[in-house]
Amino acid sequence: MVKHNLNITKLQSSYLFPEVTKRKNNFLEKNPQAKLISLSIGDTTEPIPSPITTAMHDAALRLASKEGYEGYGPEQGLLELRQKITQQYYPKHINSDDMFINDGAKCDIGRLQMFFGQDVKVAMQDPAYPVYVDGSVLAGQTGDFCQTKEAYNDLTLLACTPKNNFFPHLSKLSNVDLIYFCSPHNPTGAVASKKQLEELVDYARKNRSIIIYDSAYAFYIQDSDLPKSIYEIEGADEVAIEVGSFSKLAGFTGVRLGWSIIPSKLKFEDGLSVKKLWIRFLSTVFNGASNIAQYGGLACMGPEGQSEIQKIIQFYLENARILKKAIDQKFQTFGNINAPYIWTYMGDQSSWDYFNLLLEKAHLVTVPGSGFGSNGEGFIRFSSFGSRENILKAAERLQQL
Ligand code: MLT
Repeated sequence: MVKHNLNITKLQSSYLFPEVTKRKNNFLEKNPQAKLISLSIGDTTEPIPSPITTAMHDAALRLASKEGYEGYGPEQGLLELRQKITQQYYPKHINSDDMFINDGAKCDIGRLQMFFGQDVKVAMQDPAYPVYVDGSVLAGQTGDFCQTKEAYNDLTLLACTPKNNFFPHLSKLSNVDLIYFCSPHNPTGAVASKKQLEELVDYARKNRSIIIYDSAYAFYIQDSDLPKSIYEIEGADEVAIEVGSFSKLAGFTGVRLGWSIIPSKLKFEDGLSVKKLWIRFLSTVFNGASNIAQYGGLACMGPEGQSEIQKIIQFYLENARILKKAIDQKFQTFGNINAPYIWTYMGDQSSWDYFNLLLEKAHLVTVPGSGFGSNGEGFIRFSSFGSRENILKAAERLQQL
């Protein structure tokens, strides 16, 4: 008989987004006439612009010819794609040799968790994207769940609340190896300032920790003085890995494409190069992103692709403004619009109660803040991914609530 992996049974609940879908489907079964609008999982809804789909179409057709056929690609991903992403988003800070193309940020976060192994101590923002906690549990990095504390024994959660302007008190942080940090922050939409990131990098340098910086929403930042990459901070290339994604940048949630940056200067405590070991690890567990997706990514980086994807980002941001305006009339929202999510304090009942209320009374599917961590209790996350028609209807329903 095979024993099960104990870490899997340490997980406390089902993964957040399938749980939301399950509750939505239960509601629909009982109320088949309901015209639900989804403001829940951050899944893009607008079509991928044609210069990008044409590039993928052409790449697929090339595979049908002897001359055009390609099998496994270069291990780190197409060089041209790495160069273009570097020029576009990291012109001063990063060398394309340190970039690894992947099949999406979530997948590489999972692989990084496996890569660092079970002996690292982990810290993360609370609330946070659920993959950071759940993946750390699966990798055996969190210890057991303590029912009385309602927390994992060996996991450090950094409270991000309105009281600290959604930036954690790092002075209370001791002895951690990995720090997950997401900016713009999923789910609160808060963006760390340059000064705050300097504080984070400074902490990591002094304590010899590694930051796993998730920049999946960086392209939504509108305030020009806010940093879009951790590498805008001096010295970050000695302490930080950055994970980026085409999902919310170009509507690639289904196509799957992203990147990770593992700077050559990043070292383990014994002086071994993190990048060198990552290459060894990655070539064992991953065969690279789909070549069709990579050609799509290349088209995103061209002038036409860039202009088209910018229009879509602005479209979602306008959705966010419409929603925020409607929500602000009833509840308290936070921050400027630099992300596709509106983090809303609903009151002192549980987030799942508010989730049910919005589902039953307004036929809106949202995400309960508590699903992102205990500091999300009482909050709801509204996503602005959706057609304009649906967003306007949702705004109207919120006003009538
Ligand atoms: C979210 O809704 O928080 C995420 O976009 C879902 C995901 O990327 O896995």
